[in-house]
Amino acid sequence: MDVIIQTTAARAEWLAAALIAKALLTKPHLVLGLATGRTMEGVYGHLARLHREQALDFSRCRTFNLDEYIGLGSGHPGSYRHYMREMLFRHVNLMPENTHLPDGLAVDLSAECEAYEARIRACGGIDLQLLGIGSDGHIGFNEPLSALRSRTREKGLTRATREQNAAMFGGNPEDVPARAITMGVGTILDSRRCLLLAVGADKARILAKAVEGPITSMISASALQLHASCTVIVDEAAAAQLEGAEYYRWILANEPEWAEFR
Ligand code: F6R
Repeated sequence: MDVIIQTTAARAEWLAAALIAKALLTKPHLVLGLATGRTMEGVYGHLARLHREQALDFSRCRTFNLDEYIGLGSGHPGSYRHYMREMLFRHVNLMPENTHLPDGLAVDLSAECEAYEARIRACGGIDLQLLGIGSDGHIGFNEPLSALRSRTREKGLTRATREQNAAMFGGNPEDVPARAITMGVGTILDSRRCLLLAVGADKARILAKAVEGPITSMISASALQLHASCTVIVDEAAAAQLEGAEYYRWILANEPEWAEFR
């Protein structure tokens, strides 16, 4: 795992977008795993700008989102399909048929979860998975005690997650759907590369536990310590409780891999 500390949230978001753009330039038919949430808004803004100003080409890219609320159709403003359309899809030249999210309205939800895994496999697996971290340590909607080998499935959401996401539903956590379909921790770990982005002081405590604490299913993001190619990008505020911050700064300043991003 590499932890890259950037001075500001804006720089952290820019770096995440730059790494995605580089992956897409290297492999135009990239299979890109996407996340939603406030943290990603700046990243998608940068990708849209790179498409507009530098013709970054998404025409052969395939995308798979981590999760979707159960019971919300794509027209619902709180759905992740809606979020993705507004934040990214309508601003770049992704083919609609190449964008995948779980169907939260599926009649047979477990069949939908299996089909989602099959679709990922049929595309050759995820090359690069973008991740945020929830206040309870989730990645995707893998709430505490999610099995480290779990696959795409239904999951009940914690009170903390429904509070964190209430703003999208008029501010009341009770209005946030109680269940979602999410890729499993095992599904995420199968990605060839993971990129976790965390910004802001409210992520500092859980981020330090996930990155430097013991691997535990109580904090799904800690499973990323098992991944052979995981980059964690944070701003100074989110890095505030990292014990190894000095060493992580040294990596960014000295390792050749990061030279172009200093
Ligand atoms: C959303 C997702 C979640 C979020 C996490 C952080 O698709 O997978 O794990 O990334 O809850 O959300 P924000 O960025 O809103 O703090």
